[in-house]
Amino acid sequence: MAEDEATGRLAAASPAVGDPTGWFERLYTEAERGEAVVPWDRDAPHGLLVEWTTERCLTGAGRRAVVVGCGYGRDAEHIAGLGFETAAFDISPTAVAAARDRHPGSTVDYRVADVLDPPPAWRRSFDLVVESMTVQALPAEIRAAAIGAVGELVAPGGTLLVIAAGRADEEPTPVAPPWPLTRVEIDAFAGAGLVPVLVEGIQDQSGVRRWRAEFHRGPIR
Ligand SMILES: C[S@@+](CC[C@H](N)C(=O)[O-])C[C@H]1O[C@@H](n2cnc3c(N)ncnc32)[C@H](O)[C@@H]1O
Repeated sequence: MAEDEATGRLAAASPAVGDPTGWFERLYTEAERGEAVVPWDRDAPHGLLVEWTTERCLTGAGRRAVVVGCGYGRDAEHIAGLGFETAAFDISPTAVAAARDRHPGSTVDYRVADVLDPPPAWRRSFDLVVESMTVQALPAEIRAAAIGAVGELVAPGGTLLVIAAGRADEEPTPVAPPWPLTRVEIDAFAGAGLVPVLVEGIQDQSGVRRWRAEFHRGPIR
């Protein structure tokens, strides 16, 4: 089974039914039945996240974090392991159930939620927000709203970390997801009162480009 076969097929069908994110649940349920592969399914947390937390000797005792579009929970478990009281959410109920199953005894509060309509109590309430590869999976018509909604999760004094595939402004948008982010889209995370403190464009040995960007809401706590 090709890793991206189901992603392309299901994502292509979603706009036709006016449901730009419904394909995620369909992909995860097919994967549960062994009929599809989830391309981003990895045991290890994202390398750019681990490097970022390690370089800063980041510890989370007494602080709250949230992981956006957590999938099977690999990044959420890393953040919880640093001591953060960690929430993690995904729009797919099947992904959330699988995350709970994969991490028995986890301290992470896994929830089903839509980044475009998060629980009101989450507004500006997290000291650390991790957004890794969710926005790049969202089509243009909801992307700006998603970028704004991610920023609204950051508490005063809090930090947002964004990890995403990258492309040059003049490059055409791919037909199927992921749709790598341009620099303009990365800069848009600074809306809603966030200040960019670090925007890195990183190219790996195979030529894949990624962004790692950090934003703060006021002085860091
Ligand atoms: C490319 S995957 C990345 C998953 C995870 N961040 C990782 O690195 O393993 C994007 C994830 O975002 C979730 N997602 C898509 N739209 C969402 C939304 N509106 N709100 C919350 N999660 C969403 C998908 O179900 C999927 O798990």
